[in-house]
Amino acid sequence: MPKLKIIKYPNSLLQELSKEVIEIDTEVRSFIDDLVETMRGSICVGIAAPQVGRLQRIIAVDVTPKNPGHGELVLINPKITAESGKRKGREGCLSIPGFVANIKRSKKVTVSALDRDGNSVEIETRGFEAVALQHEIDHLDGILFLDRITDMKRDLLKRKIEEI
Ligand code: NI
Repeated sequence: MPKLKIIKYPNSLLQELSKEVIEIDTEVRSFIDDLVETMRGSICVGIAAPQVGRLQRIIAVDVTPKNPGHGELVLINPKITAESGKRKGREGCLSIPGFVANIKRSKKVTVSALDRDGNSVEIETRGFEAVALQHEIDHLDGILFLDRITDMKRDLLKRKIEEI
């Protein structure tokens, strides 16, 4: 399966709103396989479709490398339906290589979505996996972790990234 090309900041596709998936057909399933393959081939715990240039609401998350005991999640049209608590932790992003920042997130989330067979699923999780889900769902709304840090830090980071 081909590995897909990761789009990097400041490509404007990363700031677009992705569309809901209407039909999970064989083309979408085959794209999902490629997306998961691309995640597996990178040092990351999650990926969102817009990061490979496809503006559709599809994410894959697997935090096992950093936090054993979880499995692979492929979620279509994911929505956060409940969240609670706060935590701050270091985040990075495949689309912004070489940069990390401390980001404040909800500690616990409930996400409803479709799985790759079109079944409704509800995921309730906390900690690192909850953060990964929030990060990837943000991508579907054109939000990067850079957008969630304080203005001053963000300006500094963006300037550094643009210099590279
Ligand atoms: Ni990311």
